[in-house]
Amino acid sequence: MTCAIREGAEIKIWHRLDHLRGFKRQRAMSKNGYPVKIGILGCMAERLKEKLIEKEKSVDIVAGPDSYRDLPRLLAVTENGQTAVNVLLSLDETYADVVPVRLNKNNITAFISVMRGCDNMCTYCIVPFTRGKERSRPVTSIVDEIKLLSDQGVKEVTLLGQNVNSYRDISQQTEKYETNLAKGFKTVYKTKKGGLRFADLLEKVSSVDPEMRIRFTAAHPKDFPDEVLQIITERSNICNQLHLPAQSGSSTVLERMRRGYTREAYLELVAKVRSVIPGVALSTDMICGFCGETEEEFQETLTLMETVRYHTAFLFSYSMREKTTAYRRYKDDVPNDVKKDRHTRMLKLYIQSCHVLNQAELGKVHLVLIESINKKTQQLVGRNEMYLKVNVDQTEILSEDGGKRAIKIGDYVAVKITDAKASAFSGVPLYHTSIKEFYRDKCYGNEIVVQL
Ligand code: 5AD
Ligand code: SF4
Repeated sequence: MTCAIREGAEIKIWHRLDHLRGFKRQRAMSKNGYPVKIGILGCMAERLKEKLIEKEKSVDIVAGPDSYRDLPRLLAVTENGQTAVNVLLSLDETYADVVPVRLNKNNITAFISVMRGCDNMCTYCIVPFTRGKERSRPVTSIVDEIKLLSDQGVKEVTLLGQNVNSYRDISQQTEKYETNLAKGFKTVYKTKKGGLRFADLLEKVSSVDPEMRIRFTAAHPKDFPDEVLQIITERSNICNQLHLPAQSGSSTVLERMRRGYTREAYLELVAKVRSVIPGVALSTDMICGFCGETEEEFQETLTLMETVRYHTAFLFSYSMREKTTAYRRYKDDVPNDVKKDRHTRMLKLYIQSCHVLNQAELGKVHLVLIESINKKTQQLVGRNEMYLKVNVDQTEILSEDGGKRAIKIGDYVAVKITDAKASAFSGVPLYHTSIKEFYRDKCYGNEIVVQL
């Protein structure tokens, strides 16, 4: 299963193929075991179909992101020693009726794809070419999957899409509301009309199980509807955490990237989000070294990061991709060592500001969903609403019925934060709780009396 977004992701797959080719040869020579078939699936298959077939003689299947239903037929074709290929992109494939098999049934978190493709055409990005046109999965199929996950004990789902704000279930026609783009934002495609929108989806999804946490990613900063902010504040099981990828802090770079907003418009959106959802944790993606990026323009990325103070940031060096507008129109002219240096500077700033942000949480009580046990330290590891890790010792704490019981995976625990690093917290677990109980306590000013 491959990714083509940056060159680095593809290099990893070429190395993996070297390894798999040896494995396939070995298996072919041995008398035991089934013959190995190698399939390249996903965006890299879409992008490099010819190269994969011509150069990689060992590959049996090349299947793009919209052809997974065809896998049984493709496998059958390989029985005669042929390479089977299907890289057709679809206008409507959402895999809505395919319920994913959960490999680890004990996982209490799950990801759900709510839409596929992207129509945004940011100039650096290959996704619209490898994933095709944007299409949304019907609300009913998403809600059904969430019900199933809830029944299986899943406590947190993350809704996935390239740009969830433009989610539209057009199978449910409605003339409810249309959003006009806010001042300073524009889009390269016509805003779709009618249908159920992302705020409707959030409303329905968060109603399935009030004790199931809901997160979503990614939200393109343009076309950010007030209704989405509203529903986040209304529902305590929708986490106060937003991924708002800025990509750059410079309006001129953003223009070249065709992001559809300026630095000022982005900062205004951040201010609005913070005023509607106090305490919201923001995360971002940032690219340094995009075509023509000057030192001054890069400095604006640093100052934007300083101003916003992200809880989480994914930082990338620009990697030129064929087919994209940037490939055709601009020059990848920032030298590699400069890209590397800028990346290091972004990272340093990000770690410093995370440290400051996280220190401010010391002494506060967080609602933590326990997800796993760290095998090395034997501590329990969970996440707070901000999606940051919180480590706690295994111990017995006050339970809902007034007795004491040990903490187990899948429990919601109120944790007092006692140590804050840039990427994780440690704390003292206080008592077992639920989303409903925790926020009721919070309403009374966090005055929680606990016998330790
Ligand atoms: N080079 C570097 N980073 C990229 N991204 C997308 N395309 C490129 C590229 N060509 C980053 C963006 C996006 C994230 C998923 O990957 O920051 O939000
Ligand atoms: Fe790529 Fe832009 Fe679409 Fe994100 S919104 S997937 S960066 S084209």
